[in-house]
Amino acid sequence: MTLILVMDNDCAIGKNGDLLCRLPLDMKHFRETTKNSVVVMGRKTYESFPKRPLPERENVVLSRSLSEIDGAKVFGDIDEMLKYVNSLGKRVFVIGGAEIYKQLLPYCDEALITRVYENFAGDVFFYDIENDKNWELAESSPILETNCRNIRFMRFLRKNS
Ligand SMILES: NC(=O)c1ccc[n+]([C@@H]2O[C@H](COP(=O)([O-])OP(=O)(O)OC[C@H]3O[C@@H](n4cnc5c(N)ncnc54)[C@H](OP(=O)(O)O)[C@@H]3O)[C@@H](O)[C@H]2O)c1
Repeated sequence: MTLILVMDNDCAIGKNGDLLCRLPLDMKHFRETTKNSVVVMGRKTYESFPKRPLPERENVVLSRSLSEIDGAKVFGDIDEMLKYVNSLGKRVFVIGGAEIYKQLLPYCDEALITRVYENFAGDVFFYDIENDKNWELAESSPILETNCRNIRFMRFLRKNS
């Protein structure tokens, strides 16, 4: 599976239940990358989307409190979810939030990280994968500007995967 996220200088990924800021170029990158694939997320992330389910993607939500959600397949257990998504024969993206990234990182061998070079004082975090010796940088874009912010797209691969 592939993990995809945007984080700031402090590895913050969200604040007050929402994203840190609007980054049109990153949204476009996310839409194009995950189109026609399976997207796995936590219940809180699903509920944070103004328009849901995400169109042109199979939406898979992890929740222990809800067994049904409009527009999404719901699982209360990671093993059951993994069995299901592996049976689909499609690319699977882990799209957040913090709880889900942490639990599903061990099942991912690729990470698509957008770094936004700002400090947003977020309240949910990923971690500094750039300095994790188990991962290597495979590709990196130049610094790009979007909505007056500097960002960089990076692709990491798990070593020996
Ligand atoms: N920067 C980015 O790229 C990015 C991407 C996505 C999200 N975000 C941000 O991240 C924040 C949300 O993250 P979060 O960590 O608070 O919430 P989350 O990971 O989106 O969702 C957490 C919920 O998932 C369910 N869950 C967690 N582990 C589970 C398991 N093992 N089995 C079944 N269900 C499980 C629980 O739902 P129930 O309570 O229903 O049981 C839990 O409350 C928001 O600020 C959002 O905007 C950022």
